[in-house]
Amino acid sequence: MPATPLALAVLGRGVVDPAQPLLRADDEAVLRGRGAFETMRVYAGVPFRVDLHLRRLGESARVLELPPPDLAGLERLVAEALGSLDRPDAVLRVVWTPGAGGDGSIGFVLVTPLPGGFDEMRARGIELASLQLAIGAATRSEAPWLLPGVKSTSYAVNMAAQAEARRRGADDALFLSLEGIALECPTSNIWFVEDGVLHTPALELGILAGVTRETLVAAALEAGIRLADGEYPRDRLAGAAEVFTSSSVREVMPVVRLDGETVGDGVPGPVAARMQAALRLAVSQI
Ligand SMILES: Cc1ncc(COP(=O)(O)O)c(C=O)c1O
Repeated sequence: MPATPLALAVLGRGVVDPAQPLLRADDEAVLRGRGAFETMRVYAGVPFRVDLHLRRLGESARVLELPPPDLAGLERLVAEALGSLDRPDAVLRVVWTPGAGGDGSIGFVLVTPLPGGFDEMRARGIELASLQLAIGAATRSEAPWLLPGVKSTSYAVNMAAQAEARRRGADDALFLSLEGIALECPTSNIWFVEDGVLHTPALELGILAGVTRETLVAAALEAGIRLADGEYPRDRLAGAAEVFTSSSVREVMPVVRLDGETVGDGVPGPVAARMQAALRLAVSQI
């Protein structure tokens, strides 16, 4: 169940009561899942990399053929929503819908409490269940109608995959292509360490260009960690020294089991810890 919102702000209206209805019943984001959104973490009232998230929102809206969002207005709205709260640690969503029949776009900012338990999960490490998508590794990037790299409000498949992973006794899912190539998780990117090299699936696979992924790539290069991206079969991850995921909300999350099998030593590894520390350093520099 989604947590009770802390704040809601709407373009053209400012901060409003989050308990009041907002969207029209015939908004296409509701009827067809044709809306764009972003999710970012807020640290003591400061959103991380809001500029990059808004840029990605603009790109998602372009691919979805939504009216172009007012990015400057949305950035002010983020500040307004957070200004109505007392320096929260929270999750912030920016949503852009086309409205009814493509008219009357709605932009809003929703702030919700940060779910608990991430630090405990990080300390123990999580289990992933790999789930296959009926899609070839090379297909998405050549098929704009499959919305490669787009954050649309059609996340029902991603949520269903997480539910299936939980049914299998895991914490989260790992999407594989038709050929068994590792892609990403329903709400995060995936990484693994093999022979001292940090690997992550290439953006050419049509995965989401995570803001956290970008932050970690820069941090790894700066730290002199050898880095590679490419197409990796699931078994490369199963045999890796370390696996971890990255996302704005969960940050760096070590993976200690994949499909019921132990990964590496079965405990969170040093590279994941270094990357988490690097992410927090980047947060402290905003
Ligand atoms: C499918 C998918 N991949 C990756 C990510 C990680 O992206 P970010 O680091 O920008 O949160 C997300 C975030 O929600 C996602 O939904």
